[in-house]
Amino acid sequence: MTHSAHRRTAAAAALALAGLLTAAVPAATAAAAPAAAPAAAPSAATSPAALAAPDIPLANVKAHLSELQSIATANGGNRAHGRPGYKASIDHVKAKLDAAGFTTTVQQFTSSGATGYNLIADWPGGDANQVLMAGAHLDSVGSGPGINDNGSGSAGVLETALAVSRAQLQPAKHLRFAWWGAEELGLVGSKYYVNNLPAADRSKISGYLNFDMIGSPNPGYFVYDDDPTIEQTFKDYYAGLGVATEIETEGDGRSDHASFKNVGIPVGGLFTGASRTKSSAQAQKWGGTAGQAFDRCYHSSCDTTANINDTAIDRNSDAIAHAIWTLSAGTTVPGDVYETTADVAVPDNGAAVTSSVTVSGRSGNAPTTLRVGVDIKHTWRGDLVVDLLAPDGTSYRLKNSSSNDSADNVVATYTVNASSESANGTWKLRVQDVASQDTGYIDSWRLTF
Ligand code: TRP
Ligand code: ZN
Ligand code: CA
Repeated sequence: MTHSAHRRTAAAAALALAGLLTAAVPAATAAAAPAAAPAAAPSAATSPAALAAPDIPLANVKAHLSELQSIATANGGNRAHGRPGYKASIDHVKAKLDAAGFTTTVQQFTSSGATGYNLIADWPGGDANQVLMAGAHLDSVGSGPGINDNGSGSAGVLETALAVSRAQLQPAKHLRFAWWGAEELGLVGSKYYVNNLPAADRSKISGYLNFDMIGSPNPGYFVYDDDPTIEQTFKDYYAGLGVATEIETEGDGRSDHASFKNVGIPVGGLFTGASRTKSSAQAQKWGGTAGQAFDRCYHSSCDTTANINDTAIDRNSDAIAHAIWTLSAGTTVPGDVYETTADVAVPDNGAAVTSSVTVSGRSGNAPTTLRVGVDIKHTWRGDLVVDLLAPDGTSYRLKNSSSNDSADNVVATYTVNASSESANGTWKLRVQDVASQDTGYIDSWRLTF
């Protein structure tokens, strides 16, 4: 926090920036991150070509399943409504979404005398009058960890949401992801959500996609026979793989899509089978074992990470992403990125420091969904208060300090409504360390217009 430290960091920033600058760019202007979007002509990056959905990494989905398994193991072997493993599951998923730039809401309800929780995650942007939702129930039954039912759908939806963030997707529709509580008690959480949604908001939901049991160990590939557009989107995905599908018949209305369907919202979804037996015709087209249940561990203690078919959960996670990208008309590449990778030291329990990114050549104001990507290395991130400063000095709080957040680093994308700020000018990231002992530095940060 001393004057000399401040001068040292400023000099370091100038040196680091010098390596990034092209001749035409004024001092302290940042380089654009994507190779296709040089700082001097960032508008070249905005083109409304339809984007193909990314491949969802199986390893990431399986890592989520392992984490849910660990939560169950640490909490009496289940993640059921009203038990500590359920709330721990909610907290875990929420933290990942918060760090990825989602606006999350935990909705509480009461069922069977216990508090239940739905987690709702909105991706900023898109048309608020056309909301595309995807969801999965996050609760297990009391008798097991619920990894196929329904860690599988929960992990597939979570990794798709994280892929939306990695792509910084800017879809035409507004995207909303949901993890429901107390499905196993009779679709309680999703019913609560729908019943408490004002009629005006209900009518804005253009579709709800449900994923409940999508990694059964002896899998079938079942598509819900509901909204024709949603159904066809999933069938197209499977046709592209050359894998046959069948209509889901093992209990229509037995999962959270029913809560939406009952109020007239178009629904669809995927399913790999529960306790019903795979026929020999099904085993011929899909492989696996005829005469055996799709999921022999359905609602039992053996529904662990061993109860997952990798191919099935991989295909279905990719199918979720395909449907989200296709049905939201996800059209644009991220937009224009202004970044600095100049390191700025953050002094321990000291004065605030800033790092600058200069934006030029744009017209008008900044967007309502200005994305601020932050990468701060620090040994105790709870020490840090982080703000974005607009060119006119207006500050936007990105992160408060917290006495109990001992994790390392702040690696997150925040969304700021900057529509009252002019786009051009020098934007600053301001970071202050407000508690002693742990220190760090701003490694890089970026604005995406
Ligand atoms: N969670 C559901 C349940 O326990 C699983 C299920 C059974 C299901 N049949 C289904 C999910 C049909 C979707 C479609 O009842
Ligand atoms: Zn179930
Ligand atoms: Ca500190």
